[in-house]
Amino acid sequence: MLKEKIAARGLPALMRMNDGRAVKTPDDWRARRKELIELLSREEYGFTPAAPDKVSGDIETSADAFAGKAVQQTVRLSFDTPKGPFSFPITLVVPKAVKKAPVFVCVAFRPNVPDTGLPAEEIVDHGFAIANIFYKDVTDDSAVPDGLAALYPRDEKTGWGKIGMWAFASSRVLDYLETREDIDHTRAAVIGHSRLGKTALWCGAQDERFSLVISNDSGCSGAAISRGKVGESVDRIAHVFPFWFCGNYQAWRGRDEEAPFDPPMLLALVAPRKLYVCSAEEDSWADPESEFLGCVAASEAWTIHRVPGLITPDELPRVGEPLMDGGICYHVRAGSHFLSRTDWLYHMACRERFGV
Ligand code: GCU
Repeated sequence: MLKEKIAARGLPALMRMNDGRAVKTPDDWRARRKELIELLSREEYGFTPAAPDKVSGDIETSADAFAGKAVQQTVRLSFDTPKGPFSFPITLVVPKAVKKAPVFVCVAFRPNVPDTGLPAEEIVDHGFAIANIFYKDVTDDSAVPDGLAALYPRDEKTGWGKIGMWAFASSRVLDYLETREDIDHTRAAVIGHSRLGKTALWCGAQDERFSLVISNDSGCSGAAISRGKVGESVDRIAHVFPFWFCGNYQAWRGRDEEAPFDPPMLLALVAPRKLYVCSAEEDSWADPESEFLGCVAASEAWTIHRVPGLITPDELPRVGEPLMDGGICYHVRAGSHFLSRTDWLYHMACRERFGV
């Protein structure tokens, strides 16, 4: 049943090199991975500039939080760009009960910690640290080329869009976390919701240091297959939010069937690490079924590494029954478009169970 549903979407070949050769081994995959990053950079998100040599962090404030169970800090991260230094603040919360805490790098809609969509005390109680980035501290969510956008040359067709910039900043947070003794940077997850779920995916696709990549309700141009998708389309997203993408993405408006790429390629770039895709039952704009089928279609990139991708019965998923056993995890929870405590409890259960 799922096989037929995937076949009906007419996806471009994931496991074939550009020259038509089949991708059969993990070594082949390394080469295919490069092609896919090139393709998605050129046609959708834009090319990401090279990482800076060094990211430094100045601790601006530090205080006990959550009844003294954690330390909460404001840290200003700085690095050099082609047009001078850039800095942005993050909020870091580190539980005291853990020597080296695994961390959630949260690319977030608000700077507040805790916040709606970020049950910080509960996360601390599970032994996880939080590094929260307020996305507009990196660059505005508009066509305005401020912040990071002003500091790199940008090609009109292939230069990075805002999703690429927020993703790049999330990687710079991990650069900094690698310098901290109290963080287990080998267990770093990048997580985002909606447009920031797209961001988390593009970040984790490129940056293999993240051991877990979590997309919450990312939908169009995120986890959901574009071909045959309901709700939001590439045509519409590229029209309303052109600045999230590179200039070339405009050429694919209304041409899903012809595009040489589709979101399962983005998901596949996380292989063989752990990927967690989350949907909400009422979120028809994002299209839960297309998000789920995206995971099924991407699974081949895991099986080539002898890791099962999404382990699922041959049927559409049931609400509130997460699938966590494979390299790809998926759940659809009850309710609407939101990063909910319910989602967090599943993410943490997954991390605890698999040590990611
Ligand atoms: C809009 C947009 C979506 C996006 C969402 C969000 O609804 O169409 O693609 O995911 O905003 O970020 O909340």
